[in-house]
Amino acid sequence: MRRSHMCGHVEAVDIGAPVRLQGWVSRRRNLGGLIFIDLRDRSGLVQCVFNPEAAPEAHGDAQDLRPEWVIEVEGQVDARPEEMVNESLPTGALEVKASAVRVLARSETPPFLIEEDSGASEELRLRYRYLDLRRPPLQRTLALRHRLALATRNFLDERGFLEIETPMLTRTTPEGARDYLVPSRLQAGEFYALPQSPQLFKQLLMIAGFDRYFQIARCFRDEDLRANRQPEFTQIDMEMAFVEPGDVMEVGEGLMRRLLDVAGLPSDMEIDRLSFRQALDRFGSDRPDMRYQHELSDVTDAVRDCEFRAFAEVASSGGSVKALKFPGGAEATRSRLDNLSEIAREQGAKGLVWILNTMDGLKSPVAKFLGEETMASLLQQTAVGKGDALLLVADEWEIAATALGSVRTALAESEGWIEPGLKFLWVTEFPLLERDLESGRLMARHHPFTSPHPDDLGRLESSPLSVRARSYDLVLNGVELGGGSIRNHDVAIQERVFAALGIDAEEAQAKFGFLLDALSFGAPPHGGIAFGFDRIVMTLSGRDSIRHTIAFPKTTRAADLMMDAPAEVDAEQLEALHLSVITPEPEPTEE
Ligand code: AMO
Ligand code: AMP
Repeated sequence: MRRSHMCGHVEAVDIGAPVRLQGWVSRRRNLGGLIFIDLRDRSGLVQCVFNPEAAPEAHGDAQDLRPEWVIEVEGQVDARPEEMVNESLPTGALEVKASAVRVLARSETPPFLIEEDSGASEELRLRYRYLDLRRPPLQRTLALRHRLALATRNFLDERGFLEIETPMLTRTTPEGARDYLVPSRLQAGEFYALPQSPQLFKQLLMIAGFDRYFQIARCFRDEDLRANRQPEFTQIDMEMAFVEPGDVMEVGEGLMRRLLDVAGLPSDMEIDRLSFRQALDRFGSDRPDMRYQHELSDVTDAVRDCEFRAFAEVASSGGSVKALKFPGGAEATRSRLDNLSEIAREQGAKGLVWILNTMDGLKSPVAKFLGEETMASLLQQTAVGKGDALLLVADEWEIAATALGSVRTALAESEGWIEPGLKFLWVTEFPLLERDLESGRLMARHHPFTSPHPDDLGRLESSPLSVRARSYDLVLNGVELGGGSIRNHDVAIQERVFAALGIDAEEAQAKFGFLLDALSFGAPPHGGIAFGFDRIVMTLSGRDSIRHTIAFPKTTRAADLMMDAPAEVDAEQLEALHLSVITPEPEPTEE
């Protein structure tokens, strides 16, 4: 009863040999009295031919077969007639002459066709995820995911890392998102939090002397979802004792090269390093896409004395006027330019000014304030020629840079600036803190355990926003793949960072007392990084959504459409957990 071959593994050397195959009916065609069945399993497809003269009984049975039935076919491997060879299929020069067929399971008519590219809606495919997973691209992606996880374990094992599991039922770990909470039955009114990352545990493992830890760790974050975010996702998480940033980056880079090798992609690329300041200044982003250049310029000095108040005031008050050349932009329509202006405003800019270098001279909505001379010198400084345009934003340095950076990203898409390929970049020395716009409070940019840059430590109290962190992110094609930092192993510095975040000693003791205690028992200098594993699989398999890389993903509303989760629970369960539910008001329905 055993299979002799997987469907996709039937080869030319098998010609003449008897085979027994088992799999799913992918397609049935009747042609000139013959019946052709494409039989599919994980390894691929092979064509089986039922001939009414050679095997009348099998041919009769094959009449009934329908897509997605599970069958067993016995027969003999043969070469296909030359005109029937299918070059695009690994088994395309072969076929199996069937002598018998047996139905192992019937199938309802599937709600969509199981094909390389399915036209069905994602909602329908998520509802029947087990059918969608039968499609070859998903089979390939999950097989690659397995190989990448295996290679990760091997690589880190070779480098002396130990894989250690950390708890799922734990306390909140502040990574900036909302927690998923689990009510406790035994401690009424108390809750576990699912980990947003194993951050604190891995630091405790360094204090425990494990020296090098890793984990392929599931993390949970209740945040607004997008194509590259899921409420539960997987990190390649690691931590090392007695290291500097460069040591962690070196391991991370080595791991990426190994994973590229496994995916069959070039792995000998250069990986540039930019500080946060440089990245923002040159590209207007803290995760610039290095597949295109088109850098921003700083033209503050050139407009210092001009008549356009918005520019002159920014220049005199210590802000920046940033400029971007838009090649071929002189002919852009007004609505196009207004649209770019809107993109800049969304990032907090007060507006966007353009100078169009048209065949009939320079055009700008603020031409009469800037004056011909200033405009000419701006164009010269930024190498804007006839037919091009110059886009300008004036503001505080960070706002001007990010606003024009978003314009740059939008132009890259619409103007086709993006070259194919994979471009990695390290971005280092992010600001330690940032101001939360809603609450006005200082927040950790990475997380509160990140070490301030030693050169800036003296300014932690007097000028906290100017303090750099010993942090680093790995960016691939404009997507943040991973991030990490050197941590505070000195308890006094950790306490100062808490204080800078507005966490007083009492609150620090209540929330992180275990960490402060642990740091006081001989904590080695340590640091680490975590990579988004789903994002790595997504990029290395050439996909544009991490939903494609996860066997059973959730929708952007954090729902599992197949299981129908989340779901209500019964009253007894709630009672045992000491919970009662406040039923939300129904949303007003639109007429
Ligand atoms: P961070 O929060 O930057 O760092 O997360 C590390 C990486 O995890 C991936 N990631 C996600 N992937 C899918 N869905 C999500 N919702 C999601 N959120 C994050 C990203 C990101 O770069 N403890 C620190 C690491 C450290 O300091 O060592 C941490 O979790 O690719
Ligand atoms: P205003 O003087 O505010 O009417 O603006 C005139 C033009 O300058 C409009 O097109 C605005 O979008 C633009 N603008 C105003 N402030 C800025 C600024 N800080 N940076 C860039 N453009 C600006």
